[in-house]
Amino acid sequence: MPDAPQPVISATGLFTPAEAISNEELVASFNEYVALHNRKYAEAIAAGEVAELTESSVEFIEKASGIGSRHVVDKAGILDPEHMAPRLPERANDELSILAEIGVAAAKDALARAGRDASDVDAVLCAASNMQRAYPAMAIEIQDALGIDGFAFDMNVACSSATFGIQTAADYIRAGHAKSVLVVNPEICSGHLNWRDRDSHFIFGDVATAILVEDKDIAPAGYWDILGTRLKTVFSNNIRNNFGFLNRTHGAIDQSGPKSDKLFVQEGRKVFKEVVPMVAAMIVAEMEKLGLEGADMRRLWLHQANTNMNRLIAQRVLGHEASEDESPTVLDTYGNTSSAGSIIAFHLNHEDMVAGDNGLICSFGAGYSAGTVFVRKT
Ligand code: COA
Repeated sequence: MPDAPQPVISATGLFTPAEAISNEELVASFNEYVALHNRKYAEAIAAGEVAELTESSVEFIEKASGIGSRHVVDKAGILDPEHMAPRLPERANDELSILAEIGVAAAKDALARAGRDASDVDAVLCAASNMQRAYPAMAIEIQDALGIDGFAFDMNVACSSATFGIQTAADYIRAGHAKSVLVVNPEICSGHLNWRDRDSHFIFGDVATAILVEDKDIAPAGYWDILGTRLKTVFSNNIRNNFGFLNRTHGAIDQSGPKSDKLFVQEGRKVFKEVVPMVAAMIVAEMEKLGLEGADMRRLWLHQANTNMNRLIAQRVLGHEASEDESPTVLDTYGNTSSAGSIIAFHLNHEDMVAGDNGLICSFGAGYSAGTVFVRKT
């Protein structure tokens, strides 16, 4: 009897937008918006009818999050203090949509690294937080642009979408429904971030990643064994985005104010306190199941939301303060890129690993949702 199909990671891909915004540029524009607002509403502020806005600070952003810069698809629109959102000309329905475009770029990178032709792929999962529309599925548009004969669908588990996508792809391969599955994570977070909200305007950036999950029998040399995956969700309103026409306020989508819940909004402190123990416990339990200890782990590619969160989680897993080599950060240059964060960390930090090295791709975020993918280099 032939061996049961065994899913592995063949390659990953990355697309990084050319433009970037430093904290200095971001804060200068935000503070200009604050000055404009406070001047415009001076009388109402004096009468106590409108809240006075407070300036942001580069020092706070770096200390609270570890973020130094973020890539974006449109810098000018975001930094315009009168606009504060990306300006992306709407494309006709017969043009490739921008989210699909960056997803295709990351997918092509992953395929090239695996020496794989798109025609060999059986399925595409677009696993991401920030979908561009309700339907047709982004994944089907990406499938079409790549020329893949098979099936495709979208899945959204917020920042954990990539690990949920990897487990789903792995399950399709185990069940014999596919031999080669592309998981694509295009994230134009800048379209869903409230650039007028001082508490969160610095958090996100834009990027796309892709992961090629395949049957070991067809995978290229040097693939990554998937030792085990684990997913978990626990409902919470502490990170939320109500975007969509069902959630209009007084007939129009309100995206203008600093606290609109039609864009990303969170209780950052609560998220920090509740998610760190949940994720650390989940990783430790899965390691026990797989017979792994902290000392067996060569590298952790953690979700990139906050350096302080990652420091605490890595410490719990490894049993000591993690070095940059053990738990690499891409937050400093990419910001939080939602589902793509742990995949960027993996993509940019695995070349030095040798056969037998163990690693963990781990994501966590809104839902709450968390996913672990333990891998071993072959
Ligand atoms: N510039 C300057 N000061 C700011 C500021 C800004 N942009 N934003 C907030 N502050 C101030 C607050 O007003 C507050 O001042 P106060 O103590 O006088 O009231 C102080 O800084 C602390 O604010 P707080 O929001 O409690 O900051 P924090 O230390 O919790 O850091 C996050 C904020 C969001 C970076 C942090 O909570 C976090 O990373 N949480 C994890 C959640 C996450 O990243 N989720 C993303 C989706 S996965």
